[in-house]
Amino acid sequence: MRARITGSGHYVPNKVVTNDDLGKLMSTTDEWIQQRTGIKERHFVDAESVQASDLALPAAKMALEQAKLEPKDVDAIIFATLSPDAHFPGSACFLQTKLGCGQIAALDVRNQCSGFLYALSIADAWIRAGTFRNILIAGAEVHYFGLDMTDRGRDVAVLFGDGAGCVVLQPTDDDDRGVLTCGVHADGVGAKELWMELPASRIRADQVAEGQHYPRMNGKAVFRWAVEKMPEAALTALGKAGKKVEDVDLFIPHQANMRINQLVAERLGVPADRVVHNIQRYGNTTAATIPIGISESWREGKIKEGSTVLMTAFGAGFTWGAALVRF
Ligand code: UT7
Repeated sequence: MRARITGSGHYVPNKVVTNDDLGKLMSTTDEWIQQRTGIKERHFVDAESVQASDLALPAAKMALEQAKLEPKDVDAIIFATLSPDAHFPGSACFLQTKLGCGQIAALDVRNQCSGFLYALSIADAWIRAGTFRNILIAGAEVHYFGLDMTDRGRDVAVLFGDGAGCVVLQPTDDDDRGVLTCGVHADGVGAKELWMELPASRIRADQVAEGQHYPRMNGKAVFRWAVEKMPEAALTALGKAGKKVEDVDLFIPHQANMRINQLVAERLGVPADRVVHNIQRYGNTTAATIPIGISESWREGKIKEGSTVLMTAFGAGFTWGAALVRF
């Protein structure tokens, strides 16, 4: 028994914010952002009332429609996000109610940019074990209100965007279809190289004054680790599935930096025309990135029946992973 992706969907809020728009809030330029990251613009929510589960809702409906399922058919929701609706409960609970599912399992995954791959590995295991049949994975982020939009936060604030992507997984007994392999990894040695310390089990006013409720990053360290670990995880995933880079029809890397993706593709030997890039339009949408990439590629005809798709991600934790999926 394998888990097959039978539907996908995505949604980004309407408000488009260009690099020049950010230049009005902090000392940054379109030239710096494009040269260092490839990002031209990103989408942001325009009201504080819009939460991660609100962005996930239309993406989930789109994914269920493609899978020909109704909300009542869903057996479990796994919601990957670093910007949840509330500190607790998890956004999967909010999405379960908004979608109108039954009293099903609802789990949040807090693994940042690798969150979708961790969710995929859990869904794959649940389906293989026969625990659940129809699983909805949502990756959704509302970064806007959590970013330090001043000079202090400019190294991080210019990188991120809001959005949501969803996939539906269902069982198949076709040996050559579905999630062929999904590997996930972590090394806490990098925990403080990319982190947001608050909210934590204790919050002091001086910590807030210091901006510890904003994400902070050692960009160069993250870059170095990403370009090493993403190819390593991708090659491990290919090896476990008995496949080679030449078997890959489409490569969907996490979108944190165009230069990272180009280096990773080069190191793997994936031809440029098989690599998905949407960072120019969306920035880094963290856990939403890979499912947005799947949904867009499927609708654009880059993913077809029988396509073999390689995905890899690296992010805070450090956490990273890779999956090989046959559609
Ligand atoms: O998805 C999570 C994983 N995240 C990542 O994978 C991100 C990995 N890291 C990166 O993508 C890159 O390190 C960045 C894009 C974040 C930064 O690029 P960089 O080439 O490593 O630049 P830097 O941090 O070394 O900064 C170079 C200069 C500095 O000025 P000085 O010290 O050379 O005078 C920064 O203060 O650029 C300055 N800088 C900025 N300038 C204009 C930093 N942020 C900005 C900004 N606009 N937004």
